[in-house]
Amino acid sequence: MSLSHDEIEPNRNVSEVATPTKRSKSLASRAEAASEPPAKGAKMSEQSNVSSFSPLARSANIVTPSTSVLTPKKNVESTTNTTNARNARRSLTPAIKKEAPKEKKLPFGGTSKSIAIANNVRRVYRIVNKHTGSIGGNSHGGAIYGELTVGSMQKMTNLMIEHTGLGKESRFIDVGCGLGKPNLHVAQMPGVEFSFGIELCSTRWMLGIANLHQILQRAKMDEVEGRSTDLIGHRCVLEHGDIREANFFDPFTHVYMFDIGFPPLLFHVLSDMFNKSSSEFLICYHGPKLMIDTYEFDVELIVQTPTSMHGSSEVHTGYIYKRAQKSKIAGSRCKTKTFGVPCDPLFAAAWKTCKSGLDGVLKHVAQHVDEHIGSTEKRITRSAAKKAHTKA
Ligand SMILES: C[S@@+](CC[C@H](N)C(=O)[O-])C[C@H]1O[C@@H](n2cnc3c(N)ncnc32)[C@H](O)[C@@H]1O
Repeated sequence: MSLSHDEIEPNRNVSEVATPTKRSKSLASRAEAASEPPAKGAKMSEQSNVSSFSPLARSANIVTPSTSVLTPKKNVESTTNTTNARNARRSLTPAIKKEAPKEKKLPFGGTSKSIAIANNVRRVYRIVNKHTGSIGGNSHGGAIYGELTVGSMQKMTNLMIEHTGLGKESRFIDVGCGLGKPNLHVAQMPGVEFSFGIELCSTRWMLGIANLHQILQRAKMDEVEGRSTDLIGHRCVLEHGDIREANFFDPFTHVYMFDIGFPPLLFHVLSDMFNKSSSEFLICYHGPKLMIDTYEFDVELIVQTPTSMHGSSEVHTGYIYKRAQKSKIAGSRCKTKTFGVPCDPLFAAAWKTCKSGLDGVLKHVAQHVDEHIGSTEKRITRSAAKKAHTKA
């Protein structure tokens, strides 16, 4: 049960240059990164006694490369997330900015900054690493697969909180959620209302729900034991499916995708879906030239940052976009509603499950695990296979 590969981000010299587009040319570019002093090799105990529920109050630091902001903060507040954004900033600003960022000098003149990881996030990654820790990078099954390190995911999360108001009222979708780490991360910090992942590949989805099942069981044990610190967030549902079966991204406020390796056709489908939806923010790993000019997502770039990959030396820039106002009238809108909010039918059941509380989500996930992983009754045996073959 080791986190050593995630504790320190790879040291690189990353000097970010904004790549202005037609829509972002006039925007000022300034580097900014949330940070606290580095605590190389910082370790935490799950049984620690500090009594605060705030994730940022109980955290350890890791080191990560710095960020570029392309839109002045005052311009990026959304209409529906304004209060959320203000609250998020109010609660986060003192915790993140109380100390001046300390830069760590790297070989060959590079610099990097440290970043705080909340203890409940660490608890979740510990569980995930124990079960599926060696999977990552690009190697799984030979197909393209990749996921960020915990430090890079935290950095993206902090930027989402700071620049898009990601918070407890947000609804987050990871398109192609793989093993579910981004979903699990934001379900802890900031603890979004609905963290939903959809994954096409059944093996990855099964690994994801196996992870989620372990995490929810841990959360249930915490509840039974009356634990009050570093509590594990449970508002997360991972489903096996194809995002192309949805017509809209509603009800999600934040559409996230680690889209390295997505085929062009899928981008066109996603762009059409996004432009018709009311989702306000798009978080991905391709720049404006591709996302705006080629695939015509109706978005403006807010901020970008270098990120590191788990199990690989690759660096990919993470981009956070907000909806441009143009598509307000484009296409037909989502007419179906759940909890009074526009919601594509593909996501309705998952949202209801998520709202049903820890027991409801745990029951739902346990059923999946039993059906797809846990049950030995349905396992194919040599004689059953022979019978099936003879019948065919
Ligand atoms: C690079 S992985 C990212 C995993 C995860 N989002 C993360 O960041 O850790 C991209 C995933 O998208 C999935 N994917 C590709 N097309 C999809 C589709 N149409 N619907 C759902 N998932 C899809 C792939 O199977 C793959 O697991």
